[in-house]
Amino acid sequence: MAEAQLDARAWAYLAGGAGDERTLRDNRAAWDRLRLLPRLLRPLAGGHTRQELFGRTLAHPILLAPVAYQQLAHPDGELASALAAAAQGAGLVLSTLAGTRLEAVAQRVLPETSRGPLWFQLYFQHDRAFTAELVQRAEAAGYEALVVTVDAATSGARDRERRAGVRLPSTMAVNLKDLPARPPRTATPGGSALFDDLLHAAPTWDDLDWLVGRTRLPLLLKGVLHPDDARQAAAAGVAGLIVSNHGGRTLDTALATADALPRIVDAVGPDLPLLVDGGIRRGTDVLKALALGARAVLIGRPYVMALAAAGPQGVAHVIRLLRDELEIAMALSGCRTLADVTRSLIVTR
Ligand code: FNR
Repeated sequence: MAEAQLDARAWAYLAGGAGDERTLRDNRAAWDRLRLLPRLLRPLAGGHTRQELFGRTLAHPILLAPVAYQQLAHPDGELASALAAAAQGAGLVLSTLAGTRLEAVAQRVLPETSRGPLWFQLYFQHDRAFTAELVQRAEAAGYEALVVTVDAATSGARDRERRAGVRLPSTMAVNLKDLPARPPRTATPGGSALFDDLLHAAPTWDDLDWLVGRTRLPLLLKGVLHPDDARQAAAAGVAGLIVSNHGGRTLDTALATADALPRIVDAVGPDLPLLVDGGIRRGTDVLKALALGARAVLIGRPYVMALAAAGPQGVAHVIRLLRDELEIAMALSGCRTLADVTRSLIVTR
């Protein structure tokens, strides 16, 4: 339905991945490869999907992932998604590259009483003072955590977008309106425009240390796949990790998140909150993610497609479907609460 609503360029941007889209496909296939081993005759009365996260009780463990430029899907863009999330008690992560001002989204959503958490996704900018200002704006507007995405130092090789002729004017990123222009650097003769110029100011672990020391908000690192990076981030003092490969949009052939998650749980142990996204399409996928050790999951394309197809009602509907499916999957696996959802539910084939 979304594809029928959208022009071919918007569809390529929202639906596509990098390169041959192997990671895009494998994210879904990896959840499919896992099989459930349900338990019987356990008491189910009084069951629920509530989850504790950063000192809050969520009605259910489903959040909307940061997705840039949502006006490509619907004229109301991020405001529509945020309202739907609030109505369904889902957490919302607003992208740095939102097409709506971060203050406007917070103002609309924060008064909602049964809403989920409201987080801001940060891309480090080449100008540190500007990055600091962006963080300050998010804090002042009432965002409750920062999600720092670090798996996209540059955009992936987006063949599908190139073929479709996707062009995204930088003016769409309204929250970066006052970002000073990046001083151009000339690549050395025979050098690389990517490394010598564009990535000259790419963020490093030092930037993460700087940010940890400067915000009072819990900070989650998004895009973690390697267990050693997970350990290093934990040592740097992050409050949580999001196991993610950017929905297969950055490094094609990167490991599927369902395959990465158990390795990261083993590396950092059970205490650091881990979230996961990529290819989650069914309540059974949510159940599997939680069984492998995730505290919560994020969805990207399912809700932007719903936004394109049916606006805010579509987004609310997708969240409700996933939550209903999660409840059904829990009940049929013998899990009354999420505390009953453990790795023993999963068989790897
Ligand atoms: C994204 N994603 C993303 N991530 C991020 O940290 N900042 C961003 O601005 C964006 N923008 C974005 C645009 C579009 C169109 C998509 C589809 C995705 C990645 C997103 O947060 C999430 O990691 C994936 O979408 C999860 O995979 P699924 O659920 O789409 O398979």
